[in-house]
Amino acid sequence: MRIKTIELSKTYEKKSRALENLSIDVNMNGIFSIIGRNGAGKTTFVRILSTELLPTSGSGYINDKDVIDQAEEVRQEIAVVPQEARPLPWLTPLQTVSSYLMWRGYSYREAKEKGKEALRELGLEDKEGEKSRKLSGGQKRKLMVATVISSEAPIVFLDEPTTGLDYLSRKELWQLLSRMKKDRLIILTTHYLEEAEILGDQIMILDHGKLVDMGNIEDLRAKVKLPYVLKVFSEDFKLEDNELQVHPVSERETFVYGSASKIYGLVPYLVTKKMKFTVEEASLSNIFEQYLGNGEEVEENEKEDS
Ligand SMILES: Nc1ncnc2c1ncn2[C@@H]1O[C@H](COP(=O)(O)OP(=O)(O)OP(=O)(O)O)[C@@H](O)[C@H]1O
Ligand SMILES: [Mg+2]
Repeated sequence: MRIKTIELSKTYEKKSRALENLSIDVNMNGIFSIIGRNGAGKTTFVRILSTELLPTSGSGYINDKDVIDQAEEVRQEIAVVPQEARPLPWLTPLQTVSSYLMWRGYSYREAKEKGKEALRELGLEDKEGEKSRKLSGGQKRKLMVATVISSEAPIVFLDEPTTGLDYLSRKELWQLLSRMKKDRLIILTTHYLEEAEILGDQIMILDHGKLVDMGNIEDLRAKVKLPYVLKVFSEDFKLEDNELQVHPVSERETFVYGSASKIYGLVPYLVTKKMKFTVEEASLSNIFEQYLGNGEEVEENEKEDS
């Protein structure tokens, strides 16, 4: 499966650009996670590629079909859960899923069978006959996801599908997405960086409508200056070093970001002092902070400085 954009830009109402010259080419099956602050352009990207919104300039392709000139064909290959989507309150979950499937061309019987299966996969089988207005916020989100996964669309857009889901439901959905991703491309926006890290085969960071970087977690980690985290659990730990970033988390917990050599260089001292510690690779949230926090720790800035 493939999504591609060339110099894609969107300006709403002549104001600041929501997307700016975005050129990417993702040719794979799996999960493509998009992360970025509020207003970074994630939803705009999803809406343009899912043919809901026209770009101001540039082009986008879904499996080599143009999202502007071949929008009808594109729509047959995609399924979308928009960020604000909610089910119609007067339909039951089963009616919601099955009517969507019939609209996509399934027979009544197939639609009902597939609908039941999708509801079961998302743990909504008890609710299949209730009116959707009686569902909780999280159950409504799950129902929207059930609707798109029941379709066999090869490219699926999920704009913040797990926002508002409880921790266990979120993990269930992760498992479901992992099972589904084998023969599809799932485009997933999320503010849960742990989720983007666990699920994302490719991760795109957007900021102010621009591509900050893209790659798998190792690619991204390789680009930051401080790819290791030392966590020290001791009240007596104090450290000052220009090449390290020291973040006191609480009175007895300090995180130190640094290069492998600098971090491992501290280990003998910690052992002598009998302080409890762990050394880990930077998580996506650490990496994200380094990219967007104050920008100082990313290599490109280093080059500019030197
Ligand atoms: N319909 C609209 N009219 C005018 N401006 C808009 C519209 N939709 C989005 N914008 C602006 O475009 C920019 C990008 O918005 P977008 O919704 O794509 O961000 P996002 O990354 O999805 O944010 P969030 O994480 O909050 O969902 C923002 O500055 C936003 O104010
Ligand atoms: Mg959004």
